[in-house]
Amino acid sequence: MRTLLYTGKGGVGKTTLSAATALRSASLGKQTLVISTDVAHSLADALDTPLDNEPRQIGDHGLYAAELDTGAELERYWGDIKRKIADALRDQGLSPTVAGELAVLPGLDEIVGLVRIKRYVDEGRFDVLIIDSAPTGAAMRLLSAPDLGQRYAHNMLNLSRGVARLVLPSLRSVLKSPIGEALVEERIKRLFEQVSELREILIDPALTSVRLVLNPDHMSLRETQRAYTYMNLFGLSVDALYANRVLPEQVQDPFFSEWKADQAAHLEEIRHIFAPLPVFEVPLRRREVVGVEALQSLARELYGDSDPTVPLSQEQPLRFLVEDHRYVLTLRITGVEGGNVELSKQGDELYVRIGTLRRSLVLPQYLAGLNPAWAQVEGDVLKVAFEEPSSR
Ligand SMILES: Nc1ncnc2c1ncn2[C@@H]1O[C@H](COP(=O)(O)OP(=O)(O)O)[C@@H](O)[C@H]1O
Ligand SMILES: [Mg+2]
Repeated sequence: MRTLLYTGKGGVGKTTLSAATALRSASLGKQTLVISTDVAHSLADALDTPLDNEPRQIGDHGLYAAELDTGAELERYWGDIKRKIADALRDQGLSPTVAGELAVLPGLDEIVGLVRIKRYVDEGRFDVLIIDSAPTGAAMRLLSAPDLGQRYAHNMLNLSRGVARLVLPSLRSVLKSPIGEALVEERIKRLFEQVSELREILIDPALTSVRLVLNPDHMSLRETQRAYTYMNLFGLSVDALYANRVLPEQVQDPFFSEWKADQAAHLEEIRHIFAPLPVFEVPLRRREVVGVEALQSLARELYGDSDPTVPLSQEQPLRFLVEDHRYVLTLRITGVEGGNVELSKQGDELYVRIGTLRRSLVLPQYLAGLNPAWAQVEGDVLKVAFEEPSSR
């Protein structure tokens, strides 16, 4: 199964492009599921049909759609434990609503969302899974390190014990029986085993591609650079970008002339920053893209005869690694004749200048506090090593 993850800021067009891509995938004869994990669901609106937590067939091709219901997923994996904890809390005199809230450990909702993806991988019912998702930092961080799951589980348990101690000193003994911390620990462990296995799937570029959706404006671009950095940091492969809502040629009203000039400048910057990844330019359409027909027409315009479910790029231009106990980043650069590498850092942004080439990139948190120590160009790869500010 191929998994395509569409992500980007709210309102940029993730749902529209996920749905259009899913329609194209289905029309190629692939059993396709498009699922929205964004709490601000709009997939049903885009497809103009009601959806719920389980896949529902759209039309008479192999297209299915669902909107992840976090509550229902939590129930599936945590329902029995939740009720036991809530009952115990209620017996101690807590109101049922507060007891219910306390019985769900923080972050669990995002984890069950991930486990749901794993379920489809295991079932093998679909050829293509398209995820329409909001950038969920917590989920991505959970995927970033295989051992993070264990630490997280440990912290969650400590936290719940802490809450228990604060709220009700007697709860700990209550929890030991009839639920028992061992059962809670066991359940969390099992969830994280699945997350861990899912990670292997998500970081394999043959199985999973991330696609970033943005609009050609300043704010959207900055946020996308940040998302791109984190995707690379966590080992996910971004294989394409979609610059959506580009004002088309036929718009000639002078009112839009500055919009058009700004968009053109941003499009050039986007191509430059993310080179050599492909950038789809998606024109602003005459109307909202609602319903299967409108989405199909958008898909035709975008993809023509091509198959958007295959990896659209084999490159991974930005990488983060550790070499000789030093944090290093590598960046693919093309068309550089050589020359001095000049680096400067401002907040979490790194500026690179080599001859006529200028690039900026957003650094992940752990590098933002360090200083670039040295840089060199090896072939078409720029390598930058970082060090503690005090070590010089
Ligand atoms: N290229 C486009 N032309 C016209 N309307 C668009 C275009 N892309 C998105 N829209 C509309 O913009 C709104 C937001 O798009 P949506 O895909 O729901 O964004 P997101 O999922 O990123 O929040 C929707 O009403 C959608 O129909
Ligand atoms: Mg959406």
